[in-house]
Amino acid sequence: MKVGIIGSGGREHAICHTLKKSNKINEIFCFPGNAGTSKIAKNVDINLENFNQIRNFIKEQRIDLIIVGPEKPLVEGIVDFLKKSKVKIFGPNKVASQLEGSKIFTKKICQKFNIPTAKFGVFQNKYEANEFLKKTNFPIVIKADNLASGKGVYICHNFETSKIAVKEIFNGKFGEATNLLIEEFLEGEEMSFFTIHDGKTFHNFGTAQDHKRAFAGDKGKNTGGMGAYSPSRLLNDELEKKIVYKIIKPTLEGLKSLGTEYTGFLYTGLMIVKNEPYLIEYNVRMGDPECQTILPKLKTDLCDILLACCDGKLNEISLEWSNKKSLCIVVCSKGYPEKYQKNVEINNLDKINFDHSNFLFHAGTKSEKEKIIAVGGRVLNFVSLSDDFKNARKNIIDNILKLNWTGGFFRKDIGYKVID
Ligand code: AMP
Ligand code: GLY
Repeated sequence: MKVGIIGSGGREHAICHTLKKSNKINEIFCFPGNAGTSKIAKNVDINLENFNQIRNFIKEQRIDLIIVGPEKPLVEGIVDFLKKSKVKIFGPNKVASQLEGSKIFTKKICQKFNIPTAKFGVFQNKYEANEFLKKTNFPIVIKADNLASGKGVYICHNFETSKIAVKEIFNGKFGEATNLLIEEFLEGEEMSFFTIHDGKTFHNFGTAQDHKRAFAGDKGKNTGGMGAYSPSRLLNDELEKKIVYKIIKPTLEGLKSLGTEYTGFLYTGLMIVKNEPYLIEYNVRMGDPECQTILPKLKTDLCDILLACCDGKLNEISLEWSNKKSLCIVVCSKGYPEKYQKNVEINNLDKINFDHSNFLFHAGTKSEKEKIIAVGGRVLNFVSLSDDFKNARKNIIDNILKLNWTGGFFRKDIGYKVID
């Protein structure tokens, strides 16, 4: 079989790596991929906004299965587009992708189906939003409705900062804005809960906790994710049942009432308050770096699972997982998430031994002749499986130190809540 993966991050390298283990697959393409995927797949330099070009390539190469990594093409309807040309593709359709594409879409489903989430209001202009904010209690959360790669969320502690948030959103910082969301601040601990769906059935696909802030002790700016560990320390049977019955199943009912169903990975971002789950957000994909953290624990052939999803036969498959703990640390270019240097060579990667428990997934890298060049903010993902988190973290840090990359930085405290 030939498979294609859309995306270029650590998540997509981890998916490539996991699919490579399947004896059903003899060729993998990555659109556009990175230096890591180029070692196990053919990188295809293609503009992800040009769906026609992607379809033509898939048809020419007779690729049997396409997996979409990031949210943007999903929200833009790549699944609907390619399905029209009879391409087998794993991921949610355009309507279902609104779960991530529009926070207001999701909140409306929450309201109608009684799904626990922060109380909220939708505001259509600066005046209305500011009038509300004058009378409210702080902290409060203000969110752009657009797809903003996690950046359109402001946690405001007073009226002055909330006014700036409202101004920035309506001035189009995250794209044209006709409304915004103001919501209650939930105090608790965050957890990511993953499921995989075929439209009729779904299976749990692991849990994780990621570390979004740039620096140790959860300080600094929000990032795409500096590291994660799996399973989440918050998980227990009772909580899992609540998440499934109070949040995920009613959401699927909500999609059904809109005449659609969900196929693909679903990432449920939760705030856990005293063992009660509240929905913070949905993402219509695997998390990054949660995917890199969770996939090495999967024992079942990923290709079989994805094919079963595309064929509506997920009920015929049961998923097997390793009981090990998994931890991932992301090495970033200095300066990230703000301005950082690009095109810096990374040496010594060949000095590190990776094995069946220690993995390296590339993100913002490209290869030039024999060299590996850092070109992105998040550059490398080191993952380790072990009997305990502390040991996993130690294995990773030992490996990162062998790199001796002065242009990079990473958080040494990933997993501190379960380790220290
Ligand atoms: P989102 O893009 O909706 O996931 O929000 C980004 C981050 O903002 C989340 O990961 C939380 O850390 C935080 N956040 C979002 N909504 C809330 C809320 N209602 N209460 C507290 N923190 C929140
Ligand atoms: N790690 C957060 C995300 O993938 O959105």
